[in-house]
Amino acid sequence: MSNSFQFLGPFKQILPLVGLPLKGAIAEEVLKATSDAGILVKNGWIAEVGDYKTLLPQAEKLQASHQPIIQDIVLLPGLVDAHTHICFAGNRASDYALRNTGKSYLDIAEAGGGIWHTVTETRKASREDLEYSLNKRVENHLKNGVTTIEVKSGYGLDLESELKMLRAIHSVNQKGIADLIPTCLAAHIVPKDFEGDATVYLHYITEKLLPILKREKLTNRIDIFIEQTAFGEKEATQFLNCAKQMGFQITVHADQFSVGGSAVAIEMGAQSADHLEASKTKEIEQLAASDTVAVVLPGASLGLGMPFAPARKLLDAGCCLAIASDWNPGSAPMGDLLTQAAVLGSYEKLSTPEVFTGLTFRAAHALGLEDRGRIQPGMLADLIGFPCEDYRDILYRQGNLKPELVWKNGVKI
Ligand code: NIG
Ligand code: FE
Repeated sequence: MSNSFQFLGPFKQILPLVGLPLKGAIAEEVLKATSDAGILVKNGWIAEVGDYKTLLPQAEKLQASHQPIIQDIVLLPGLVDAHTHICFAGNRASDYALRNTGKSYLDIAEAGGGIWHTVTETRKASREDLEYSLNKRVENHLKNGVTTIEVKSGYGLDLESELKMLRAIHSVNQKGIADLIPTCLAAHIVPKDFEGDATVYLHYITEKLLPILKREKLTNRIDIFIEQTAFGEKEATQFLNCAKQMGFQITVHADQFSVGGSAVAIEMGAQSADHLEASKTKEIEQLAASDTVAVVLPGASLGLGMPFAPARKLLDAGCCLAIASDWNPGSAPMGDLLTQAAVLGSYEKLSTPEVFTGLTFRAAHALGLEDRGRIQPGMLADLIGFPCEDYRDILYRQGNLKPELVWKNGVKI
């Protein structure tokens, strides 16, 4: 196969995010931008990063395709959204309106809303319909600079419908417009039409669904929602142990309304514990001492009108902190990751590098991906360019400044 080279630039600034730690707080002044830079891309991977004028003769010698960029662009690694539920059918605008009149989750579920409503809509949808709407949301994310997207199942909650969701995610991923990382969340809630309690349901998933996921290579990640209204710590531990023994990686919806989930996640060696709005000092310290990534979801706080997860405290304790959108039709309908991260940064007093690392290589680490999230040789050429002169403009504009240029695997979108 012949090599294909591209030369990108010149960029007013690039933020390589190289040399920044995987865990803990990062002071503002540690972030270093490189000015007037160029990037040489080989077969979709970053080959060289350096001064534009210095790299230009090398790029010419390699006959790299090159269209000089004439406006001021600040370049970041493509964003990684480590937690979404964007494969779904239907709409829960009425839940949102009801919540804002003061109705509780329980009231809304009883009135026919909540997760179960989306399950009934998603079960009715064809796989083609799911693919169509998922693809639209992926395109929207990509336009906003998100080049890697985790996507959960969890609105099927029976064998056939969970498989329909995961196959839809697989098909959209095959199109290659963004990298989709599928996760099975069949353990979202006990479906209302299941005959048996939580333990029996988890047993059913373990016996019937997980072997098919392995066989069809639909996902190697398993998630569970640990909460009083979903699954308890004991049954979750048993379920996750089985999943681990089958070779699945683990992630947990943890400490959203009450604590307990993060301890299970840590004990199971989960890649990430996500939500953490209810985490207190004990949970924060345990997370910091573990290898489990703390994934905070400001979009869920905005959607539910509830306090943010303690991102500042998690970082100060020494956690690896990622910021994800949780984009879903119920608790987090907005889906604008950069806006949510900028707002979280303002409320939680996060430095610019803490927000940017939480959206890039720390988020990639939450998915077990070490080949992206930094701009350096050997990394995927997933790159996003903002029309501004200084990187500080990006969060200052609170998400209103969108990337003008997006490259996925070196291909300009
Ligand atoms: O992450 N917490 C559980 N699950 C989702 C909400 C899903 C929904 O409301 O449809 C979440 O917030
Ligand atoms: Fe979620």
